[in-house]
Amino acid sequence: MNIAVIGTGYVGLVTGACFSEFGVQVTCVDKLPEKIDALRRGEIPIYEPGLEDIVERNTRSGRLSFTLDLADAVSRALVVFVAVGTPAAPDGSTDLAFVESVAREIGRCLDGYRVIVTKSTVPVGTSDHVRAWIQEELDLRGSKLRFSVASNPEFLREGAAIGDFMRPDRVVIGTDPGDDQALAILKDLYRPLYLNETPFVETNIHTAEFAKYAANAFLATKISFVNELSVLCEEIGGDVQAIARVMGLDNRIGKKFLHAGPGYGGSCFPKDTTSAAHFARALGHELSIVEATIRVNERQRLRMVDKIVAALEGDVVGRTVGVLGLSFKPETDDLREAPAIDIVRELLRRGAKIRAYDPAALAQAGRLVPEMTLCKDAYEALEGADAMVVVTEWNEFRLLDLPRARELMAEPRMLDLRNVYKRDPVVAAGFQYWGVGR
Ligand SMILES: NC(=O)c1ccc[n+]([C@@H]2O[C@H](COP(=O)([O-])OP(=O)(O)OC[C@H]3O[C@@H](n4cnc5c(N)ncnc54)[C@H](O)[C@@H]3O)[C@@H](O)[C@H]2O)c1
Repeated sequence: MNIAVIGTGYVGLVTGACFSEFGVQVTCVDKLPEKIDALRRGEIPIYEPGLEDIVERNTRSGRLSFTLDLADAVSRALVVFVAVGTPAAPDGSTDLAFVESVAREIGRCLDGYRVIVTKSTVPVGTSDHVRAWIQEELDLRGSKLRFSVASNPEFLREGAAIGDFMRPDRVVIGTDPGDDQALAILKDLYRPLYLNETPFVETNIHTAEFAKYAANAFLATKISFVNELSVLCEEIGGDVQAIARVMGLDNRIGKKFLHAGPGYGGSCFPKDTTSAAHFARALGHELSIVEATIRVNERQRLRMVDKIVAALEGDVVGRTVGVLGLSFKPETDDLREAPAIDIVRELLRRGAKIRAYDPAALAQAGRLVPEMTLCKDAYEALEGADAMVVVTEWNEFRLLDLPRARELMAEPRMLDLRNVYKRDPVVAAGFQYWGVGR
């Protein structure tokens, strides 16, 4: 089968590369010439473990190619995935400009039956708009061509995207009731996963669109829930990690996403929770739990700043903070809504100096926050620092050489915003230690 994937970012590139690995003929389209040029040279524009090998192998075998020419890609495809960004608009709604532009372009070039699949995370009802935008363009051409729309939300996690795509917990396919052709085509495309016994949920389009928000909002809620508990734990001398363990060992609750920290970030949870709350309100409903989740998350970032300021006896003016980890989570270079960026900006605003290191996101972070000093490793970031702040739990920060760190720092303080250290050994190494919720 031939497919086209429009938008070659974290989702589109992984989707295209993984389908080509399954033997599908894939054309990935983007509108950025520098991205397409880089990919054609074999350079991967994002940090995603394992992706480079798959792209290289399948490009070489001729199953995966990259182009700026959407019309050409669509003309050769039976299925067209739309995987462009759907950022938050300032009012919390979702900016669908990229989706609309792609849908209209598809409408202008369609030359036969295609299944147009929304893979981007989009508010409920967007696929109806996609259909209307394509139809409007066809009407302008006086064309009577038939096409299907479908929803196939993506659940992959950055940093583990290849495994998540190849061995997903589930695949959701939303089609119009009675559109057996589109459903059969998509099931055929996903056949390698059927053979793996991946659970498939076949449903209508609105349900598929909503399911993605439901899943992300629930995961975000778990994080905010435990973060709210962490505040109380600090008051009562409790240990939020022990509480999370007690909760997580209950199979009905599950262990994952119960880690107290600086709050969720990234390209999905913040905008997806806000978008869900927004489209619910537009329908006259309040998703009150989701709205509370958002408020708790915003507060949590500020609490982290307060924690750092308090550790520095209330005054950060002229003090140096060594920040370890900037990306929103380990194993990605994605800085969208990264807690570290908000924390660093607020500390700078209050007069602190920042020395920072991240294994993958350093250069990009330097462009976002030019006032901070970028360092080549964790130890350089700690030179002369009055406090070390572990914001993102990259593996290389889990076993720091504490005597060496102490030697380099002006004052041995550790703020472990991910609870990756146990207090006693850090204190034994001569540090003052602060975790989150314990
Ligand atoms: N990043 C994730 O972990 C993740 C996970 C699941 C779902 N999603 C969803 O998937 C969608 C894409 O996210 P992403 O992180 O891959 O975004 P991204 O910003 O990394 O990539 C989007 C790409 O689309 C391209 N693009 C925009 N307009 C275009 C056009 N008219 N023609 C061709 N290309 C165009 C951009 O240049 C960019 O390369 C979003 O809706 C997001 O919510 C993301």
